[in-house]
Amino acid sequence: MEKSRYPQVEMEIRKWGSKPSSLIQVLHGAQERIGYLSQNVLEYVAKRLNVSLSKVYGVVTFYNFFKTQKDADHIIMTCMGTACYVKNGEEVITAIEKHLGIKMGEKTSDGKFSLQIVRCLGACGLAPVISIDGDDVYGRLTPEKAVEAIKRYQ
Ligand code: FES
Repeated sequence: MEKSRYPQVEMEIRKWGSKPSSLIQVLHGAQERIGYLSQNVLEYVAKRLNVSLSKVYGVVTFYNFFKTQKDADHIIMTCMGTACYVKNGEEVITAIEKHLGIKMGEKTSDGKFSLQIVRCLGACGLAPVISIDGDDVYGRLTPEKAVEAIKRYQ
């Protein structure tokens, strides 16, 4: 199991460019891939685009489609992009659903985990991949390793 730092955000930066004018697009894309924008992600984006943190806060508070709060204690983003799919990503997802007793798009009744699907987490070389709260990206998963990773947050 390998970890990587914000490949979801890097993917958006590659797409839109590492420049201040890309701020809204990068934040929007990052939120799509992570589920919400944590303090750490906002700081990371500010640094990478060479924008002040106050400017980043200004943007996320102005547009109400930006979410800075999680909808559960932990958001699990599971990847079903091509690279993850061909490396048995589906089995990983099935094992997670079984372990948590919920289906994709749902939240556990104790509000601890929500499960979402994403088309690519930007770490295809580590397929199959999941991310937890955006900060932690776990790759080269087997169903057992994915469950093991989730247990660290329980
Ligand atoms: S397809 Fe899963 S990380 Fe790219």
